[in-house]
Amino acid sequence: MVPRGPLFRSSATPSIFCCLSKLVSRPFSLTGCFALTLYVSLLFIFFLFYPLHRNFPDDLEREETLFMEETQQVIEERLWRPSLSRGFRPCTKPTSRYEGPKYWNRYLTVRSNGGLNQMRAGICDMVAVARILNATLVIPQLDKRSFWRDSSTFSDIFDEDHFIATLQGDVPIIKELPKELDSVARARKHFTSWSGMKYYLEIAELWKDYQVIHVPKSDSRLSNNDLPIDIQRLRCRAFYYALRFSPPIEQLGKKLVGRLKSHGRYISLHLRYEKDMLSFTGCTYGLSDEEAEELKIMRENTNHWKTKKINATEQRIGGYCPLTPKEMGIFLKALGHPPSTWIYIAAGEIYGGDAHLSELRSYFPNLVFKETVATSEELEPFAKHASQTAALDYIISVESDVFVPSYSGNMARALEGHRRFLGHRKTFSPDRKGLVEVFDKMERGKLKEGQKLSSRITEMHKFRQGAPRKRLGALPGVKGRGRFRTEESFYENPFPECICSSRNLTN
Ligand SMILES: *[C@@H]1O[C@H](CO)[C@@H](O)[C@H](O)[C@H]1NC(C)=O
Ligand SMILES: *[C@@H]1O[C@H](CO)[C@@H](O)[C@H](O)[C@H]1NC(C)=O
Repeated sequence: MVPRGPLFRSSATPSIFCCLSKLVSRPFSLTGCFALTLYVSLLFIFFLFYPLHRNFPDDLEREETLFMEETQQVIEERLWRPSLSRGFRPCTKPTSRYEGPKYWNRYLTVRSNGGLNQMRAGICDMVAVARILNATLVIPQLDKRSFWRDSSTFSDIFDEDHFIATLQGDVPIIKELPKELDSVARARKHFTSWSGMKYYLEIAELWKDYQVIHVPKSDSRLSNNDLPIDIQRLRCRAFYYALRFSPPIEQLGKKLVGRLKSHGRYISLHLRYEKDMLSFTGCTYGLSDEEAEELKIMRENTNHWKTKKINATEQRIGGYCPLTPKEMGIFLKALGHPPSTWIYIAAGEIYGGDAHLSELRSYFPNLVFKETVATSEELEPFAKHASQTAALDYIISVESDVFVPSYSGNMARALEGHRRFLGHRKTFSPDRKGLVEVFDKMERGKLKEGQKLSSRITEMHKFRQGAPRKRLGALPGVKGRGRFRTEESFYENPFPECICSSRNLTN
């Protein structure tokens, strides 16, 4: 008889008594003794191991669950938790030396150029420049001629009154130039890119001859570094507090964030896979010949894009191409995000539409867009205005649990900085050059999706998740003014001026 768990135990007790009673009543037999010894031994062994045997599967299950829970928790932490802020917090208050503005009877008029986020940075820089020049700032005009062809005015996109009121302790701001100054001669001045205090103090000499200085372009006119702390903090107050989106945009933005969060956590993916982007960068990887040709023609016909001949392969290998929807799918999966993850696509119209998006959707079926989170009635007032829909994307991306851009650019930079400012929310900066190397290996069949790829990509991005660190300076070896271009931009990382350690009580 082979002991078989509970079945055996239930019958064991009666049978041993039966055997013992037989032994007492019958003459001793060797076979009987052997059988009994074997029986008792087996029984003994069985009882010895029985409890273990009983409990073993439960314990194993419990241990496995514990192990899985821990791993799951570790993964969750790694995927979603903001980088440890280590006691850092926003600090934008002026120093004790800072004085309120004086109402000078001289004015700075500005035309902001570029897309939404280039204009936002430019506007905040002009607030700082007006402060340096002791000027009254006139609400800037917005770019209506950029690629985005948006006719929105300042107050369509931004909360004008809030902007003026928030900065009243810094710079006087008025909505329009006083009528009597409309006809006076203005100094029209293209400020030199990335200028510092010395330059603007020279510019201030213009006040001797002019009452109005007009600035036709506002992008990158102020240096990232080496400015007084109070000027840097003013830039932050302008960017993070004063330049709020207009109430209709803010309201819808918040509503959409609420809807997304009701499903749990979400990633905002800034998928720069729009026609202009691909045409401008000359990146054709993964596109059909017809598509590549179409982009080439667009590039040749766009006068202000200087580079016409681009080798797409070299662009890609150099890490100068936006990652494709499929590549973003491989990337996010390799980081450990499960297929059920909700991904909000912050972008304009994706080139090629579903043909390219489907490659990302095969990894992450829960792709959502403005059009899926909002009703068409809700979107209708903003639909014809690229800057206003970009503002919705901005709000949804600031509030997302994870933000990841497929390409760098003004929006990606602004969001990275803003998320740092708000407590180092998780923000991935894909290492495009390194990733392309990996993807090409996969293409050649030398690497497959799986654990190895996953650890490689995770390791590659260990220090690219928006953890606190000082803003990076110029790349070594770059000489002259070109070095400014290689600096990390102020709004990309306002550390250390506007992000301080809690221990530092002077802030
Ligand atoms: C601006 O005004 C302050 C005094 O309020 C003065 O110290 C400073 O030199 C002025 N700056 C310029 C550029 O005129
Ligand atoms: C583009 O660059 C790659 C790599 O340097 C090279 O192999 C290829 O021949 C180039 N293509 C053209 C059309 O010049």
